[in-house]
Amino acid sequence: MERRPVRHLISLDDLTDADLRHLVERGARFSADGAGSARPLDGAVTGVYFAKTSTRTRTAFSAGALRLGSSLVTYGPGDLQINTGETSEDTGRVLSRMLDVLVARTAGDPAEMRAWAAQSRMAVVNAMSAEEHPTQALTDLTTMLRHFGRVEGLRVLYLGEGNNTAAALALALTRYPGVEFELRTPPGYGLAAPIARKAARQAGASGARFRELHTMEDLDPDFDVVYTARWQTTGTTKADPDWRRVFAPFQVREELWETSPKAVFMHDLPAHRGDEVTAEVLDGPRSIAFDQAENKMHSAMAVLEWCLGAGPADGGPA
Ligand code: CP
Repeated sequence: MERRPVRHLISLDDLTDADLRHLVERGARFSADGAGSARPLDGAVTGVYFAKTSTRTRTAFSAGALRLGSSLVTYGPGDLQINTGETSEDTGRVLSRMLDVLVARTAGDPAEMRAWAAQSRMAVVNAMSAEEHPTQALTDLTTMLRHFGRVEGLRVLYLGEGNNTAAALALALTRYPGVEFELRTPPGYGLAAPIARKAARQAGASGARFRELHTMEDLDPDFDVVYTARWQTTGTTKADPDWRRVFAPFQVREELWETSPKAVFMHDLPAHRGDEVTAEVLDGPRSIAFDQAENKMHSAMAVLEWCLGAGPADGGPA
């Protein structure tokens, strides 16, 4: 594969508004039409390093890379010499001489990924760190675009913990004019303050609306999307042994549809039926959570193409 300048995706901050729209639209295109016969990553080698558990994201990037013609090298949690003290910088320098892109989940500080990315030969993709889950947000917006034909103007309600999925969703949705993004998070489990401030700033600039409340009182009607995520985020634990009592009012139940009858239900998965959502909702007719899961792969293909400058906007095949 011809070497072109690489682009990293470690945070949504790495994307311009045009990049964000391109990736969401390209993911939706892959979702609608499949990958076709073109193999824009032919000759590329994709590294997949997951230090934490994953069903969707790891498979999405692996299957997506293979469908686009790339080869794969995979690493489990204990495989790299990072575990024996090799520096992140040296790891990035070495891997970049052999790989074209490294997709990594650490559930740790994204600074480690920035250290891997301190070279210009290998793209680095954040497949989830402690603070942000950018590829989840791309999947989510791709799913909204596929379902509604637009992201602009959607009214999205998020219930549950202000975790890395919620953070990425807030940072992506508030860039779209007319979007209303409302979070209802348990007291003490909201978005990190810098993320909330940034989302509010972005909403002010784009013409979106953003707010976060810590109660289920006085919920507005007519949301387009009701979204939740697992209460026990991958790789984290809660200090309060009684945390379920605080979370219980934020469970997604059928009764929410009395005031938002047209809303679809979304969930990043994995789910715990009976915790953040009832089985009736997750497995019911309003749920698009499993289409959303499939879209992880379509969105991953858009990301890989973009990182390697192999998409149609870069002169690659349409
Ligand atoms: N939503 C998500 O990131 O799923 P996995 O943890 O299975 O990758």
